Order: sequence, then C-alpha cells, then structure tokens
Amino acid sequence: MRIGVDYYPEQWDKSLWRKDAELMAETGVSIVRLAEFAWSRLEPEEGSFDFSWLDEAVQIFSENGIEVVLCTPTNCPPLWLYEKHPEIIQTGADGRRIQIGIRGHRCINSSVFLEYAKRITDEMTRHYSGNSSVIAWQIDNELEAYPCCCEECRADFRNWLIEKYGTVDNINKAFGNSVWSGEYSSITQIQPPSAYPKAWQNPALCLDYWRFTSGCTAEYVRLLSSVIRKNCPGIQITTNTWFCENMPDLYDMFSELDFVSYDNYPPVRIPKNPDEFYSHAFHLDFMRGIKQQNFWIMEQLSGLTGSWAPMAPTPRPGQIKGYALQAIAHGADTVVHFRWRTAITGAEMHWHGILDHSGALNRRYSEFRELCKILPKLEPVNGAEIYSETAILYSPESECAFKIQPQTDGFYYLEQMKYFHAAFTKYGANIDVISSEADLSRYKIVIAPSLYVNNEQVTKKLKRYVSEGGTLVMTCRSGVKDENNNCIMDALPAVFKELVGAEVVEYDPIGWSEQSVAANDGKAFSCKQWCDVLKLNTAESLAEYADSFYKGAPAVTVNKYGRGTAYYIGTVGKMDFYEDFAGKIMEQCGLSKLDGLPTGTEITTRTDGECDYIFIFNNSENDVEINLPETMYSLMDSADKEKVKLKPFEMDVLRK
Ligand code: GLA
Ligand code: ZN
Repeated sequence: MRIGVDYYPEQWDKSLWRKDAELMAETGVSIVRLAEFAWSRLEPEEGSFDFSWLDEAVQIFSENGIEVVLCTPTNCPPLWLYEKHPEIIQTGADGRRIQIGIRGHRCINSSVFLEYAKRITDEMTRHYSGNSSVIAWQIDNELEAYPCCCEECRADFRNWLIEKYGTVDNINKAFGNSVWSGEYSSITQIQPPSAYPKAWQNPALCLDYWRFTSGCTAEYVRLLSSVIRKNCPGIQITTNTWFCENMPDLYDMFSELDFVSYDNYPPVRIPKNPDEFYSHAFHLDFMRGIKQQNFWIMEQLSGLTGSWAPMAPTPRPGQIKGYALQAIAHGADTVVHFRWRTAITGAEMHWHGILDHSGALNRRYSEFRELCKILPKLEPVNGAEIYSETAILYSPESECAFKIQPQTDGFYYLEQMKYFHAAFTKYGANIDVISSEADLSRYKIVIAPSLYVNNEQVTKKLKRYVSEGGTLVMTCRSGVKDENNNCIMDALPAVFKELVGAEVVEYDPIGWSEQSVAANDGKAFSCKQWCDVLKLNTAESLAEYADSFYKGAPAVTVNKYGRGTAYYIGTVGKMDFYEDFAGKIMEQCGLSKLDGLPTGTEITTRTDGECDYIFIFNNSENDVEINLPETMYSLMDSADKEKVKLKPFEMDVLRK
C-alpha cells in the first residue's frame, strides 16, 4: 500500500526539491509522479534531449526512499514543434485549427506528431530503462476520444469506414443515407459529423465516428506502450483517466495496459436531498471494473479545486484522509495525491495541492500525514480483492448514443446506475460496475439499465444468463437501437421482449415532471423522465402507473425465463424506489443484507482468501455508531470491537 504525490520539479526552484523530498519521506510518502507535462524541458530543441534535471530529481527521491512513476510528456508538445508543424494541431468541427497556448492540443492521429511522440518516449524510456527507482510509466494525461477534424483524421475515418463496410453502398445502407439526400456517391464525400446544429446530424454517422476516435485513442496508447515495453521490459504501464465528455471506450483503451489509474476528485459538499447524493464510490467501482482488478488513484483530491471554474469549498475535516481510504476500500492499493505543492504560476494555481501557496504545514497537510501513518496498519489488505455478487453493466456505445440523442429532459445514462449502486450500498453489499460484454457467471444479480444500442453477443449472453438461473434487471430505453444506431422495427424492448415477457405499447417522455406509481404491496413511488406503458405477455405486473391516461398500466414487471428471472422497470424512480427494489431482490436471491445502516455508511469487503477485511466508511457529516454482529479486530485501533463509532468521513477496517 502506498500513498504518493504528484510533483512537478520543473515548476519549482531546485533548492526546494531536496527539502520537499525529505519532508515527503518523513511524512510517509512512498511514491511520486514526475514529468507529466515537461516536454519543453526534456527536449528543449528538436532532437536535443536533456534528462539531467529529471535525473537529479529522480536521484533525490530515490535517496529518500521514494519510488517514481514517470510520464510520457506527450500531452504538451513544446511550442517549437507546433511552430514547425502546425499540421499536428487538432482541428475543430468548424474546420479551423484550435488555438494553442494551453495543453492537450495535439492530434493523436497526426503521423508527424506520432513520430515525435514515439521519439521522446523512446529516448526517455531508454534513458530510464533499468533505473530501479522508476517503477511505472503513465502514458500521456487524461486521454479522450478527440473529435479532431484535421485532414489526416478525415482520411483515416474514411479508410476506417471502408475497412468496416467494404463499399460506399454498404455505408449508405448502414447509415440510412436516403434521408435528406445524404447518399455518398464517392468516398471523398464522407466527412466527420461536423455540421451545425450538431443535433441534426445522422446518429449512425455520429456513433461510428465515436467508435473511430475511441479506437484511435486506444491505438495511440498501444503504440506508446509498445515503445515503453520494448525499452523497459516488465515495467508496469498505465494511463490516468477520468469521466469526461468525450469518453473513449475505457475497456479497449486499458486492454493492453497493466493497471487502471483514476483521477479522483470527489465533491466535498454532501447534498441534503438524498436524491442528489451519489457516493463517489460508484466511480471507484467503475474504475475497478475496467480490468476487473485493483487499480491506482493517480490524482487524489488534496485541497479545494478551481482554476477554470470558480473555487469550490475546501475539503471538510476528515475528507482528505477519508476519501483516500474510501478509494482503498474499493480496491486502490496506491493513492497518489494531486499535488504536493499548489502551483504559484500557470492556469492551475487555484487547484490546491496538499501544501498551500505559502508552503506552510496546514490543516490538510496534518490530515494527509495521519493518512500516511495509518497505511502500515493496512498492509495486510494489500492486494486483497473485492468479490461482488451483484454487477451493474455499462455499455460505452449506449452512453455515446445517449449523448448523441438525449432522450428526455433530465435523462442521463449513468444516473440509474448510480441509483442502483447507492441502493445496494445501503445494504452493505459489494458491487461491481463492469462492461456489458464481461462474463456474468459469478453474479447472482445483474443490473443492466437502458441497454440502448444492441450488441448481439451481449443480448445472447443476457438471455443465457437468465435462462441458466440468473436474476436480471432491465429498464426503459433498452433494445431501441441496432448496431448502427438506427431504430429497430419492433415493439420495444425489441430484442429483449421475450426475455422480459412484456412489451411497450407506447411511451411518454415526461422529462422533469413527476408522476406516481403504485406497487402491488401498497407502496407508492414517484417516477420521472420516462414512462413505458407496458403490455404483459408472459410477465406479471409489480407496479402500475397511478396517473395520466395510462393509469393502471404496468410500469414494473417480472418474468420467469428458463430457470431465472428478468425484471423490467419502464420508468425512472427516485432513491426510495431503488432502495426498496434492491432490498427485495437481494432477499429473493439470498444475498446477505444489512438493515438499518446509518445514512452515508458504506461497507465494502476485501478478501485475500483467508481473511475478510471489512471497510466501514462514514460518508456523512454526522457521527455514526454501528453495532457489529460479532466481535471483530480493528486494524485501525489494533483492538477487538463490538461496536464501531465513526466521526464524519472516518473509516474503520475490521478483520474477520
Ligand atoms: C486533471 C489533470 C491534472 C490537473 C488536474 C487538476 O485531473 O490530469 O493535470 O489538471 O486535473 O486541475
Ligand atoms: Zn486530427
């Protein structure tokens, strides 16, 4: 287990490096990430490389017993490179090159850029090959599926389409180009979706363009990782990721990397309304689910955030320590904090690190130090894994298609997943968030909200999963689109109709307004956004709409399919609905369940096969008390306990 910091030696006077390294070592920092954006210092002139300053920094950290993660500085090409080769700059949808002067402006498909990126990566990795202080490499920074429209990207996209469809005719068919005289008569007419207004573009073209750009990002990662592997065989390689607008397919992007690393900035304000509260734990489980293995945090919240946006409130007492431990509870064994010192220059001077601008040892530093001192106690948990009986399925293609065509006001693909995640969390269950394409055999319950774009393999797998005894939950906007993002000519949920034993007679996108649903057991719930008016085939109704012209029509159904059970929720509820629903299906499926946990309590269990380590986190602003079912040993307090008392954002870890 390691706690680390991100450090930018190139931004500080050399006289600080050693002082910083010594304080870090004394604090308990054991890993540091360097050189993330430092291309202009590493290759100040074309072809002339200077690693001397970085050598010195690496040496200083190594003398202080601190290991190093190095980065390819490829996010920030130096200005001389842009000047010499303006063609490497990304081009926007308007056909104009974007303005340089900040960061991340290179086109990752530009063959010229790729030559320079490979060269700096090659030089750097050869230089540090065999340096035992360098234990991992990070490729670039927060890569996206960049919607670049430069000439090279346009040409590559055309080739990609021809490769996929064979002929222009097939592309016309796949995209349904007879609409609005959109038929291509020649390959040269194919353009990325850059027309305005964006919402009027062909959704089939848009989805394929995303597949292309996402694939390019994954290809870029593979290219740089192959250079690193050639020069540093056996080294661990990652790239740091986050939830961004142009999300690439993360399953693909990480497929050949050794581990996932995530930039974790949980919000510090806890909303009063439970419907607005989604624990950041959802994102952590999502990150663990990418490779279905433990992961790293490469940037962890260390202070108040701001820079391009006005500053947000400062982390409350307990959050610096608590949110790092929360990441560990969900499978992170290394947590690197962004950043050691707050920048005093540049655009990010208001995105705070551990130390403020003054460098004084402040409140956050003290808490960070406590965190570092706790880590040795958690050593037994290092490498222990999380096993879940419940999985939530995520489809990058469906998410992209929902971004292309928003369904109704307020509808957001991840929202239902977050509701379900929070609902299972309420009962102390481990939850995986995994690719819709992943193997499901180990799960008792699978939640697949709004599987919108059909993938035949996934559809078959889900049917098999249920027929062999699994419990599946599907929701509205499933089975709507075929692989090309065109509508399927069938009653919804089309390919899942037989599986859920019900079909949609009509639907009502009610957006922000709220209606109600009456459940068979007498409970009433609010619903919002979307109402599928259902007709039962083989399914039974569990709840009915209580108002509107479809009052009395089924809203939630259950169907026996083979040896298993498929639920369908035709609408979007609020937190109380999902809690009630999750509680019931957990009982039906025989999952163990804790009742009456205080609000905000999050329990996850990591196991090494011999012992279970139970993390109990108080993600709330109130003190809580939890009675344990039996006496357990607390790694935090090195004592047996029958009861856990936690202050706001405090964590306990118990051994069973
Ligand atoms: C991201 C980036 C960092 C930094 C932080 C905070 O996560 O990876 O380089 O910009 O945001 O601003
Ligand atoms: Zn481009």
